[in-house]
Amino acid sequence: MVRTEAFKVNITILLSMQVTKAYHKTVKPQDLITSGKSAVRPTISPSGEHSVVFTAKRLGKTYQMGEVEVRALHDVDLTIERGEFIVLLGASGSGKSTLLNILGGLDRPSSGVARFAEHDLTSASDSELTRYRREHVGFVFQFYNLIPSLTVRENVELVTDITDNPMPASTALEMVGLANRMDHFPSQISGGEQQRVAIARAIVKRPDVLLCDEPTGALDYVTGKLVLEAIERINRELGTTTVVITHNAAIAGMADRVLYLGDGHIQRVEKNEHKLAPSELSW
Ligand SMILES: Nc1ncnc2c1ncn2[C@@H]1O[C@H](COP(=O)(O)OP(=O)(O)OP(=O)(O)O)[C@@H](O)[C@H]1O
Ligand SMILES: [Mg+2]
Repeated sequence: MVRTEAFKVNITILLSMQVTKAYHKTVKPQDLITSGKSAVRPTISPSGEHSVVFTAKRLGKTYQMGEVEVRALHDVDLTIERGEFIVLLGASGSGKSTLLNILGGLDRPSSGVARFAEHDLTSASDSELTRYRREHVGFVFQFYNLIPSLTVRENVELVTDITDNPMPASTALEMVGLANRMDHFPSQISGGEQQRVAIARAIVKRPDVLLCDEPTGALDYVTGKLVLEAIERINRELGTTTVVITHNAAIAGMADRVLYLGDGHIQRVEKNEHKLAPSELSW
């Protein structure tokens, strides 16, 4: 599909409106899809030498709300290895989204260090963070933010049009089980299918990491499982390092490691010796 630059800009603006309406307030329009390409690629080599994808050391995040300080994270020490499937559990307000947003370059810590491979996310400029998100991170949120006037395939092609080395939109959609829905519009598919389109949109650029904030939060049991199957397949077949935030403790069974957050701190880490397939989970 040939698109003019002006059309791309319009689409980016349209996406911005969608995103700002439904997302957490720290998420900005360019976070999901950004136009333009960069000459410099601060890479983690996909096959290469870095086995540690994320490092956090004494990571802290404090929000200033007038006179009041809200300590969202403190003293978080963490490493995530390439290809790991991490589930992040914790009560509401425990700091899960804050941690994910810092790892994804949507937000900056107030103290400590956060690194992606050897790249310091703490000291990165805004444009470096934008480039980092664009080239390395796929995001999936609770709300899908598809463009209603574009078909499923076109929603995913928005990303392939502006990315260096995407897989075909049809391949990404096939991976999430939507090969037979490509010409539907978002209003013509179910919530679970819309979320799988959002996953295809996140992975079509072959990101190093897939960060999911309550991806099944709005879905029923059956459709939630289909979404988990899509995420698990991407982690297994593409080796995409995956972090999933959830309130559903059963989903922890799918993880390599489960991080329990409480009061802005990692309180416990559990390693699953035997991971369960999404079909084996029940809740
Ligand atoms: N932009 C912000 N400004 C001020 N305080 C914030 C901001 N974002 C988060 N917080 C506060 O930081 C703490 C952690 O929030 P966070 O969104 O990370 O929690 P969470 O674990 O994702 O919760 P939930 O499960 O409800 O999504 C909360 O006390 C929250 O009120
Ligand atoms: Mg949250």
